[in-house]
Amino acid sequence: MNKPAYPFLFKPLNVDGLRLKNRITMAPLYLGYAGEGGKISPLLLAHYRRMAASGAAMIVVENAGITPAGSGASRVIRCDHSRYIPGLQKLAGAIQEKNAKAALQINHAGRFAHTSEPVAPSAVETFGRTPRALTQKEILTIEKQYAAAAKRVKEAGFDLVELHGGTGYLLAQFASPHTNRRGDFYGGSFDNRIRFPLEVLRRVKDAVGDFPVGYRLLADEWLPGGFDLEEAAALSRALEEDGIAYLSVMGGTYESFFLPDVVAMSKKPGYMVPLARRIKKAVKVPVITAGRISTPARAEGILKNKEADLIGLARVLWVDPRWPKLARQGLDRSIRKCSPKCNACMEMVMKGKPAVCPRWDKETRRWHRDMLAGL
Ligand SMILES: Cc1cc2nc3c(=O)[nH]c(=O)nc-3n(C[C@H](O)[C@H](O)[C@H](O)COP(=O)(O)O)c2cc1C
Repeated sequence: MNKPAYPFLFKPLNVDGLRLKNRITMAPLYLGYAGEGGKISPLLLAHYRRMAASGAAMIVVENAGITPAGSGASRVIRCDHSRYIPGLQKLAGAIQEKNAKAALQINHAGRFAHTSEPVAPSAVETFGRTPRALTQKEILTIEKQYAAAAKRVKEAGFDLVELHGGTGYLLAQFASPHTNRRGDFYGGSFDNRIRFPLEVLRRVKDAVGDFPVGYRLLADEWLPGGFDLEEAAALSRALEEDGIAYLSVMGGTYESFFLPDVVAMSKKPGYMVPLARRIKKAVKVPVITAGRISTPARAEGILKNKEADLIGLARVLWVDPRWPKLARQGLDRSIRKCSPKCNACMEMVMKGKPAVCPRWDKETRRWHRDMLAGL
């Protein structure tokens, strides 16, 4: 094979014993492609087969629910019972048959759960709803649900599992001084606030044994009085000490995503790289950065400058799965770009609809329409 145009981007990397063939990963992207109730639909399988065929080294599948009580939407993939394992096996296989490593992200949405009685570390209102504060007994039950879900991910044949500590979901809610106002040993001091994520990691690792566990890290809530980058660096070190395989760094929560300053910032290429750069200084485990890394030249620069070890592409890869192959040839200008002016995918999934990208070519739209008919 010809020498790649971007040598850093195509250099293999070992992640906790797993060989990634290059530095390109798909960051988790919930698009509402599972059937109602989280069924592994033909559309979902075809979508991930397409993403894996792109040439990316690792595909991190969107968040999957560890319990129906913590589900973020009706089309969220489920891993809260062994009856979901056969479907998950198909999903892992669809990715691996295209020569990519398959990871599944597992999640409890906490105060953002779409349930009648959402739960959270503390009763802090959000979007007009106030969650109920968890008891210590319930916290223990949820930790066990994470561990059981991670075990199913392993049994289904995935190569890794990722804990969703981003987007302001339950793991992040415990770490944050904004959402965690508890007076017991799960709240107050920094060490108490990170107790729950660390306990979850330990239980998950005990359950899966020799199997890589990654972490999506909320590195800055971008909210006054929220979890910030220095606390995130300290949490990263603690996660590393407890054996995390990698940290996938992101910023913002549903409470900050729509603030004018955050909206403006997140239109910029590589807007979350400064967060990854800081976390990378704190740890030795691989760090993934995502966020409008639309050109391979930018990705190469990030790796070369040691701002991150791996590149995460979410919408960027979905809009144009040719990204890795065009990158290999240095054909940056041929890549179809996700427009910073467009928020269509987010708007569609928030309405409970499977997402379509306005930037797709006719052929992809036709493929998607045909697949939707079978959803
Ligand atoms: C519609 C949508 C769904 C997303 N779903 C997830 C998810 O399930 N888990 C997660 O950790 N991040 C999720 N993200 C965040 C992405 O992983 C990523 O950090 C962000 O979109 C920036 O990367 P990009 O510019 O390549 O899309 C989602 C983002 C969008 C827009």
